[in-house]
Amino acid sequence: MDSSDDEQQQEYLFKVVIIGDSAVGKSNLLSRYAKNEFNIHSKATIGVEFQTQTMDIHGKEVKAQIWDTAGQERFRAVTSAYYRGAVGALVVYDITRTTTFDSVERWLQELQTHSDTTVARMLVGNKCDLENIRGVSVEDGKSLAEKQGMFFLETSALDSTNVKTAFEMVIREIY
Ligand code: GTP
Ligand code: MG
Repeated sequence: MDSSDDEQQQEYLFKVVIIGDSAVGKSNLLSRYAKNEFNIHSKATIGVEFQTQTMDIHGKEVKAQIWDTAGQERFRAVTSAYYRGAVGALVVYDITRTTTFDSVERWLQELQTHSDTTVARMLVGNKCDLENIRGVSVEDGKSLAEKQGMFFLETSALDSTNVKTAFEMVIREIY
């Protein structure tokens, strides 16, 4: 690869952040997307982790650097640094726990406070494999997303439902 190819690719590096309460499945969504891995015993994230994922859009190589941090306040990284430069966000709740859905507006507020540009946003209702213990209806998810002007999908990091689509819709929107 020559240096002009290098420069070309730099143009298409996007930062995407994943936010939401603890244990909604942020880290598993990222590991499912980036590595096709799921961990039933995953530990709470401490600090920040990220993965870089490449996708092809109209023949161009687009790279997304996807950041994942702790839902728990005491384990979180410096908030302003986490959001800096982000152009996409997945805001995740757990469809089995309404408290995590109630937190969405607070996460959106924090995102807005710390972002200096328009951010492509996707509301993600994760753990849709747990239909039998659902606590948040699909309609409630949809209407919140509409109210906030966001995309909406339900996902399962466990069985892979919509995981790729959720990340790629955000990345395409940015591009
Ligand atoms: P913090 O790092 O504390 O903010 O949590 P997190 O949002 O990163 O959650 P994590 O990915 O660690 O997942 C929490 C728990 O939920 C783990 O036991 C996962 O195995 C489980 N989990 C994650 N996604 C799914 C899913 O789609 N379905 C089911 N059934 N369980 C899931
Ligand atoms: Mg985590």
